Parts: sequence; structure tokens; C-alpha cells
Amino acid sequence: MKHTPQSSLLRWYEKNGRHDLPWRLTDDPYKIYLSEIMLQQTQVKTVLERFYFPFLEAFPTMEDLARASLDDVLKKWEGLGYYTRARNLHHAARQCNGALPTNAYDLIQLSGIGRSTAHAIASFAYREPLPIMDANVKRILHRYYALQTRDEKKLWEYAYTLFDPEHPFEFNQAMMDVGSSVCLNKKPLCESCPFELWCEGKNTPHSYPEPKIKKIKPIRTRNIIVYQREDRYALMQRQTRFLSGLWGFFECEALPHTLSTPLGHITQSYSHFTLEADVYLSLKEMNDEGFEWFSLEEIAQLSLSRADHKVVSLL
Ligand code: ADE
Repeated sequence: MKHTPQSSLLRWYEKNGRHDLPWRLTDDPYKIYLSEIMLQQTQVKTVLERFYFPFLEAFPTMEDLARASLDDVLKKWEGLGYYTRARNLHHAARQCNGALPTNAYDLIQLSGIGRSTAHAIASFAYREPLPIMDANVKRILHRYYALQTRDEKKLWEYAYTLFDPEHPFEFNQAMMDVGSSVCLNKKPLCESCPFELWCEGKNTPHSYPEPKIKKIKPIRTRNIIVYQREDRYALMQRQTRFLSGLWGFFECEALPHTLSTPLGHITQSYSHFTLEADVYLSLKEMNDEGFEWFSLEEIAQLSLSRADHKVVSLL
């Protein structure tokens, strides 16, 4: 067989690939789809150890997911963050009546499925010959083709140039593995790379655009007031875009009433800001419009943000 970048990558994957990942051992599109969504902003280890199997146990099929309430889905997503992913997953399940489309073109029409995710699902579940484009693949392509600028359209063209349409599953999985274990951001291991012979950036791996430098996160200072009536506490379900659907305690910028008792302080880092909040307990009467009253046992059944969990642990 001719020695090409594609054949070299396939051989590398056979020997070094992570073949035991559960979403690589199935061709159930729903299980693959779920893994792709969970893995968008979360590491493999976390998804594998804490979230993937419990979610599938609660919602074994796409039909189960479509039938479930959003509250139940959010509860299972709790702790994984970026809850829009869970809302989209649930919405998509209903959009397609519990049966995922069988090609990338139709997959993209669903909520929360972008081009790369559609290509991943279609290439893994149906062997549709389409390349993917996550952060790791971008880094590989920038180096391989020594690209000086960040240009999505060009990157897709190069992705198709390098792609092996005969082996879509193996090629895409292998690219992910090379990206996460060889073509590393800081210290690429070029001597172990299956593309070593062909990579134009091998001797200058740091000369190409890296992902944009993250902005320093702003600090959001708030007061959280836990209103209590007998053994019940006031929570409201968020309607805002951020953390939509999750339950939370009353949050405000103004100083709380002097009759409030300080409970402590919490810090929670989110993707685009860090929350610093003083937490108070108040037995004062309040206008409880929009709030519902729950015991601690009932609160344990709700889906809460990480910050609100920290508040509960102060009670
Ligand atoms: N990240 C996104 N999809 C993945 C996959 N199939 N295997 C490993 N990591 C991934």
C-alpha cells in the first residue's frame, strides 16, 4: 500500500487510538450524538466517569428523551454546565420525534447541531464521508498546511483535502486523538506524529494561529438572599438565557435588609464571568410573586446551578 498521510494516520490510529471509548463502540446515533454534545465543552474523563452512563440510564433512547420533561433532563445535566446544550438536546429530540435523521444535511437542521457536530454524528454512526472541525483539528490543519491566518472557509477546504473518504470513522476519530495526544498546543510531540513526513509546520509548530486568547473574566458581585418560612425556602426558576430552567435563590445587587443573617460567601466561576456573592438568610416577609417554597428534601430534587448548590450547603 502507498504510504500517504491518510494511511499513516490509520496505522497510527490502529495502534494508538482510544478504541475503548463507549461512543466508539456503538453505532447507535443517539449515543454518539449525546457523546458529541457532552464533549463539546467537557473533557472525556469527566463525561466518561460522571455523566454519560447515568444520562443514558435515565434516557436510554432518543424517544425516552423526547418524552421526558425538560426539568428531568436538566437535573441529569446538573454539574456538567453549559445548560443550553441540555435544552437543545431535549428540543432536538422533540423536533425529530425521537428519531435522529440519518444524514448530516438533516442533522444540521436540529437545535444545537452545527456543521462539525453533524459531520461527527454522520461519519461515526452512518460512515458518511465528511470531515470534522473541532479545536484540535483546527490546530492540526494550521500546522500541517502552515496556515498564517484564521479562516474558517479555508480550514474546511483543507479539512476535505486531507480527509480520507474511504475511512470517515477512523479518520475523524484519529484526528481527535492526534489532536489531544500528539499535536499538543504547547509541546507538540512531532517525532510521534503520523503526519511527520508531510507536515509543513513541523519545524515551526508555534508559528500558526492558536485559538484566541481568553479574555480576563469580569467579576460579578451580588448578594444572595435565602428567604425562609418555617422549614421552606424561596426559589424561582430562571427564565433568563443564562442558566435558563435552573432553580435559584433570590439574587440582587442592593444591600440586603438589616434583619438578614449573614451565612457566608460563595465564589463560582462560569465561562464568561466569576460570581462573588455574600449569602444571607432572611425570615422577613417578602413579595413572593414568581417564587415557590421548598423544603431541603424538595430542593434536592430540583436542578440548581453550582452557585445555588453552594448556597444550599451553607444552610
Ligand atoms: N470529543 C468529541 N468527540 C469525541 C470522540 N468521538 N472521541 C473523543 N473525544 C471526542
